[in-house]
Amino acid sequence: MTASDAKKNFYIKVKRQDGPGKNPYYQTFELPYKPNLNIISCLQAIASNPVTIDGKQVAPVVWDCSCLEEVCGACTMVMGGKVGQSCSTLVDELMERDGTGSKANPITLEPMSKFPVVRDLFVDRASMFNNLKDIKGWVPIDGTHHLGGGPRESQEEQDLRYALSRCMTCGCCLEACPQFSLEGNFVGAQVFGQTLYFNMHETGATLKDDRLNVMQQAGGISDCGNAQNCVEVCPKELPLVEAIAKIGRQTTVHSVKQFFTGKK
Ligand code: SF4
Ligand code: SF4
Ligand code: FES
Repeated sequence: MTASDAKKNFYIKVKRQDGPGKNPYYQTFELPYKPNLNIISCLQAIASNPVTIDGKQVAPVVWDCSCLEEVCGACTMVMGGKVGQSCSTLVDELMERDGTGSKANPITLEPMSKFPVVRDLFVDRASMFNNLKDIKGWVPIDGTHHLGGGPRESQEEQDLRYALSRCMTCGCCLEACPQFSLEGNFVGAQVFGQTLYFNMHETGATLKDDRLNVMQQAGGISDCGNAQNCVEVCPKELPLVEAIAKIGRQTTVHSVKQFFTGKK
C-alpha cells in the first residue's frame, strides 16, 4: 500500500501487553488517513476512540513520550520491524517503505524487545541509565568557583565530542545489537559512545580509569562482536564504530598499564 492508495482509511496492528510478564497479543485499529501523520498522532487517535476493527471497545494503548521532537528518546518503538522514534516516523514513510497500511497488511507497532515491557508499547529503559551511572557518565567539579579557561581542543576533537553529545539514550542501538539482551550483561554501543565522550573531556577524564575498569569487565568492550548494526540504526548518527575502536584501544592501554604498575 502506498500513501496515495490510502484515500480514506489505513490499519495499524499493535502488540499489546497488559503488564510486566503478561502474555502479549495483537489488536488492529482502523484510522482515517491524512498526509504527514506521525505514529504518535495515530496512537492519540486510538486513545480517543479505542475500538478495534472487530468493533470491540478496549483499553487505550499505552506508550511513552515527552519531547515530541526526537530529542528525549522516550517514544522509541519497533515500527514495521524497524526501531525508531514514533514522534518523528511518518505513516507515509512506513507505507512507502514497507507497502503496509492495508487491512491485510497493516502497519505493525511493537515495543522494543531488549527492555522489560511496562505496558503495551511502553518499556522500562532504566538499564541504560544504570549503565551510565556505572561508567560515571558525568563531569566531576569540586565547586562552583571560576575554573579559568579550558584547554584548547582541536576542531576534530570538538566535532567528535559534539557528535557523541547527541545521544538521547533511546535504545535503538541496543535493540539492533545481536550481543545485547534483556538477561545478559553486555552494556552495548550507547555506553561505549558515552564512555568516550566523558573520557575526552578534560575534567571528565579524571574518572577515565574508573570508566575503563568497567569496560574491562564481562559485558564490556571485549564482548562487542563488531557487527556494526548499532551504527546503522542510530537516529542521531553517532560515530559508534569510531567510539568502539577508540574505547577498545583505551581499554587495552589501561590493562597494560595496570599489568606493569599493579594499580587497579
Ligand atoms: S558493533 Fe555490533 S556487537 Fe558491538 S555494540 Fe554495535 S551492534 Fe552491538
Ligand atoms: S547511541 Fe544512538 S541509538 Fe544508541 S542510545 Fe544513543 S542516540 Fe540512541
Ligand atoms: S517523544 Fe521524545 S524522541 Fe519522541
